[in-house]
Amino acid sequence: MDYQILKSNTKQQTAFITISRPKAMNALNAAFFEEMDLLLDDLADNKELRAVVITGEGKAFAAGADIAEMSEMYARQGEAFSNTGQKVFNKIVAFPVPVIAAVNGYALGGGCELATACDIRIASTKAMFGQPEAGLGLIPGYSGTQRLPRTIGKADAAYLLFTGETITADEALRIGLVQKVVEADSLLEEATKVAEKIAAKGPEAIKTLKKTLNEGMQMPFDEAESLESSLFGSLFETAETREGMEAFLNKRKPNW
Ligand code: CAA
Repeated sequence: MDYQILKSNTKQQTAFITISRPKAMNALNAAFFEEMDLLLDDLADNKELRAVVITGEGKAFAAGADIAEMSEMYARQGEAFSNTGQKVFNKIVAFPVPVIAAVNGYALGGGCELATACDIRIASTKAMFGQPEAGLGLIPGYSGTQRLPRTIGKADAAYLLFTGETITADEALRIGLVQKVVEADSLLEEATKVAEKIAAKGPEAIKTLKKTLNEGMQMPFDEAESLESSLFGSLFETAETREGMEAFLNKRKPNW
């Protein structure tokens, strides 16, 4: 399929996805979700992949759901649009390898929800974050009411959701929404470095970590601990784990 909104290229085990609809501030419309859904399926088939970086072209990472498209909707279409966004963003959460948001500019509404669905957020000093939906008489529809409080805690999430305030990258760092803030011209370089750090680790261990983190967070603590023990145990059956420990004991780098 020809992608109209997304650009993608893979370099050294990292796939870079760029949202490219700069004239509309990379607003997320039905075509975006269709393309992202297919692209994630394609990338999931690449067994060499170790990380994915998502960024935006121009002034925005993504300025939210497409308001022009939503203005034509009624209850049934609104619910379906929300379900579609949730389904695609859940694919990012369940994606086998870590997904890094390289937030270049505005990450508002659905754009902030997209960044929050990623495992790690690195922001440029030009990035701005917010959930302005209530100012449109709306609420977030791509799991923002649920994933944001689970990411930064209920009180900070409530503050952002109720006030609709747009916050800077430094403020987002302070509340734990982003993990690093870097100069705009080194954003992709920094995201690549993080992807390379991940790629240097045991690939099965990273996949297992992502699964344990995401599935465990949905479970009662004792069930999540059982999941951890069971996956910890299953890694001992892999050549990767043998190699990792043997390399340490022989004072050499692992070869995986
Ligand atoms: N949907 C559709 N179009 C959008 C858009 C959006 N979310 N955000 C920006 N655009 C369009 C503008 O309408 C404008 O189009 P025209 O050139 O045709 O007029 C173009 O992008 C450029 O935008 P601005 O002129 O507004 O640019 P700016 O630099 O003055 O402001 C901005 C940038 C602060 C991001 C501002 O565009 C803005 O506030 N956008 C809307 C943010 C928002 O409310 N997002 C939440 C959407 S609701 C949602 O996301 C619900 C959900 O969870 C499912």
